[in-house]
Amino acid sequence: MGSVIIGSGKSLPKRTVTNDELGAIVDTSDEWIVPRTGIHTRQIALEETCTDLGAEAALRALGQTEGGWQREEGALDPASLDLIICPTLTADTHFPSEAARIRERIGAVNAVCYDMSCACSGCVYGISTADLIMAGSAFDRAQAEAAGRGPRRNVVRRVLVVAAERLSRLVDWEDRATCILFGDGAGAVVLEWREDEEGVLSSYMENSDDTARTLWCDSAFCARETPFAAGNEGVEERDNLDPYMRMAGQAVFKFATAAMMRCTEEALARAGLTIDDVTLFTPHQANERIIRYAAKKMDLPMERFQVIIDHVGNVSGASALIALNEALCEGKLKRGDIACMTAFGGGLTAGSCVLKI
Ligand code: UT7
Repeated sequence: MGSVIIGSGKSLPKRTVTNDELGAIVDTSDEWIVPRTGIHTRQIALEETCTDLGAEAALRALGQTEGGWQREEGALDPASLDLIICPTLTADTHFPSEAARIRERIGAVNAVCYDMSCACSGCVYGISTADLIMAGSAFDRAQAEAAGRGPRRNVVRRVLVVAAERLSRLVDWEDRATCILFGDGAGAVVLEWREDEEGVLSSYMENSDDTARTLWCDSAFCARETPFAAGNEGVEERDNLDPYMRMAGQAVFKFATAAMMRCTEEALARAGLTIDDVTLFTPHQANERIIRYAAKKMDLPMERFQVIIDHVGNVSGASALIALNEALCEGKLKRGDIACMTAFGGGLTAGSCVLKI
């Protein structure tokens, strides 16, 4: 039994931004960006909202619109979703949640919804918690059946995990250390609990304190004062707040390479598998050099890793879901294959899950 991925989708905004275009607004160049990151272009949302991107990825994952991947024939009814989890840092509104907005857009009338704030680990945290909840629900239902009563908790058999990001709105477009890295987009999977099949074989999530503030973004609303502070004569905007994403690149790089290895090894060990059992690694795409580092450490050729950062940049929690989708659509992952998804990011968060397709 297990949580099986039965659909996958992605959505990218229309506008492509090249490295040369960035070189026109900050002191950088294609020659610096490509060898340092592997990024050639990224997609930036001009008109698309987070909800537009998330809903499009979700509808593709459900097979309601073309361009997604379905495990079995036939579209999935949005009304059959019990839960929508949306990992995001850039919801269009504080509330309702981004997940609730996507629910409304796709007609998932029976789904309970919430957002998840775990930065670039959103893909792994989203899939892992969906799996935990479905396993808990299955246990609850089994207990209820044995006792001849109804379940005591929400019945969750089908979950949409949809990570949607417009990082272009968090980025300081005057900061060359970050603005070259990020892109906008969404990735989605539909997971279903199956009694007779395996899906998520294992998962591992971890957090560590970011005491040195290596990856940070203040909430814009914290700039507002209440009228109650001593000496405050009215509601004023605080001017000491930085509304942009900040990153200590080298420190994060160090954390990322270690987390990538640690989490992959832990998730594989939990699944009782080794590196050799993995058909394709679909990691978070923060920097191609981080993926190359992992490939070298594992003594594997780069072909065993799905690399999409060249054309999408870093799309935070959506990155690895987009990578998984592209691998599925390209036929690099087929029924019965094993994928390993590892991610790391602000929090500091990190994790990995092993997926049987
Ligand atoms: O998804 C969330 C997790 N994020 C990550 O995992 C990102 C991890 N970090 C990285 O990928 C890399 O640290 C970066 C790509 C962000 C930076 O690469 P780096 O090789 O670590 O560069 P650096 O920060 O050590 O900077 C080297 C030099 C500096 O100049 P000086 O001080 O040596 O004169 C920077 O000012 O490169 C300069 N620099 C740039 N130059 C041209 C930094 N950004 C740029 C730029 N263009 N865009």
